[in-house]
Amino acid sequence: MCGIVGYVGKGLAIPIVLDSLKRLEYRGYDSAGVAFCEGQSVFRERRAGKLIVLSEALKNRMISSGCAIGHTRWATHGAPNVYNAHPQNDTSSNIFVVHNGIIENFAELRDDLIDKGVVFSSQTDTEVIAQLLAIELLGKIHTYQNVVRAISTVIKKLRGSFALAILVKELDYIFAVKRSSPLIVGEKNGECFLASDIPAILPYTDKILHIKDDEIVVLCTGKIRVYDNNLKQRKLLFRKVNTKMQEIMLGSFESFMQKEIFEGAKATIDTVERLQHFDVCSQLDKTRFDGDFDLHIAACGTALHAGRIAKLLIEKYLRLPVDIDYASEFRYSYPILSDKSICIFISQSGETADTLASLDLAKSLGAYTIGITNVASSKLAGEVDVNIPTSAGVELAVASTKAYLAQLGAIYCLVVSIAKLLHKSLDLDINVLLEIVRQNGDMTYCRDWETLLPDLSELDSLFFVGRGVDYYLAMEGALKVKEISYIHCEAMPAGELKHGSLALITPQSYVVVLLTQAELMEKTINAIHEMQSRGAKIILITTKDVQIDVTHIIKLPAVPDAYSPFIAIRPMQELAYMLAKHNGYDPDKPRNLAKSVTVE
Ligand code: M6R
Repeated sequence: MCGIVGYVGKGLAIPIVLDSLKRLEYRGYDSAGVAFCEGQSVFRERRAGKLIVLSEALKNRMISSGCAIGHTRWATHGAPNVYNAHPQNDTSSNIFVVHNGIIENFAELRDDLIDKGVVFSSQTDTEVIAQLLAIELLGKIHTYQNVVRAISTVIKKLRGSFALAILVKELDYIFAVKRSSPLIVGEKNGECFLASDIPAILPYTDKILHIKDDEIVVLCTGKIRVYDNNLKQRKLLFRKVNTKMQEIMLGSFESFMQKEIFEGAKATIDTVERLQHFDVCSQLDKTRFDGDFDLHIAACGTALHAGRIAKLLIEKYLRLPVDIDYASEFRYSYPILSDKSICIFISQSGETADTLASLDLAKSLGAYTIGITNVASSKLAGEVDVNIPTSAGVELAVASTKAYLAQLGAIYCLVVSIAKLLHKSLDLDINVLLEIVRQNGDMTYCRDWETLLPDLSELDSLFFVGRGVDYYLAMEGALKVKEISYIHCEAMPAGELKHGSLALITPQSYVVVLLTQAELMEKTINAIHEMQSRGAKIILITTKDVQIDVTHIIKLPAVPDAYSPFIAIRPMQELAYMLAKHNGYDPDKPRNLAKSVTVE
């Protein structure tokens, strides 16, 4: 769950590598480092902390190198200090490696190397790779063919996931290889680029090639070679990417999270309109919906919260039972799956390790698999039986906002399509949804929060309460606020308060209550009274005209209940953003987190 980049060409490599790394920081920001070729040697600079620390350290250095690799880290093995920062090297400093992924058998490989006398200088799994390569190259001349063969031998010993970029002393080449971690290369006018993700190199080229598992890539000025696992060179078919530069630029926004909140309505509309053309119904395998079948959903974090709304819609409108779980639990909960199962996996990135492992499990048991993902080139999109693409555009802030709305859009389209397939009529209309989002999706609630911020930012705990769909929205609101403001947040189902959680409510408590469903209005109001009589201050977010005395009401447009999630999430996303800013935190890069969780 790190970002790797590489550049080789006639330009100055270090500024390009640092600039590219900036757009990969969403993948991790515990430490950063670069290695570059100069003369016959390879040099390295690395620092603990965000990329800016490394950039400052390199600011006044005149580095003329045209060949460099870089890394931004989310720590898995070893503390986030300078010794564990990448590039990692072998003992003789001949080989420098940056790595995204996790080597599952690193402990046994490391013990074996220690037995052979190798002395390690870090706690990382990556150093094992550098040391193994050094052993393979021992006594051999450093030619690119020898390095390719050494890489081919070493990767056969590795279990787990990796995208590696490697520099070897005396060679002006970048070597790269991947397995189950993303890696792309790009080219323009003889300059060659490598990265974990398209945004990193988009300002330099839109000619991209996706690398397949176990392929070995060699980049030098003016040439990219890709070898398959039999070391046969393959033909390169670059494709032009559609991602636009403005998608990855801040423009007039202060942060990507702010920009992405503002893009929520567009993400929904783009997704739904695209899916209308895509015709989800025609993409589904009708035979899988014949007779008996069972439905399952697995996802993580925000994607799971979108999935909970999918479950509710399918059960309410289609009257079909749906089993739902965190992907990290699903894969270990002995799910009862067969060729009668239909499993839906939701993931913005399409590279979340637990979601992918759940997908593998479902496929191995014969299930029909449906993906909802935002990254068309992701592993999830490529491996499900049918992928329903969301069109949120690039989402860079760690806290997912517009992707959640796009997922909801895709979910509504999927539910309508399944109904069509099963010849069931239902009270959901995609055109109504579009109209509601077009009219109301851009409304902002910043003013509402402004006056409350001083009090809310001092809290140790903030509660979110709702019932039914409002409870699922409360879960997403609580996740958003906790992950970037570091205030403990808990979502509680309104009806469960008396069964325990009410004990947490004191006159100091603030509770955000969601109320968007007419059928649950009375019950939710009762819960408000219960909490108020214990002194709680209530912030009510509602689409209804409620006559109730609370600390603050955020009045949403009165949309039909079935579509309220598209409108009700926005104020909570704004609250999270404003609290983080108020308390001086970077909303795009919350502590300890990274955007794509590619490790278990
Ligand atoms: O890429 P995915 O949708 O699979 O990611 C799942 C979660 O890691 C993600 O939603 C996470 O919870 C976000 N940081 C929430 O804002």
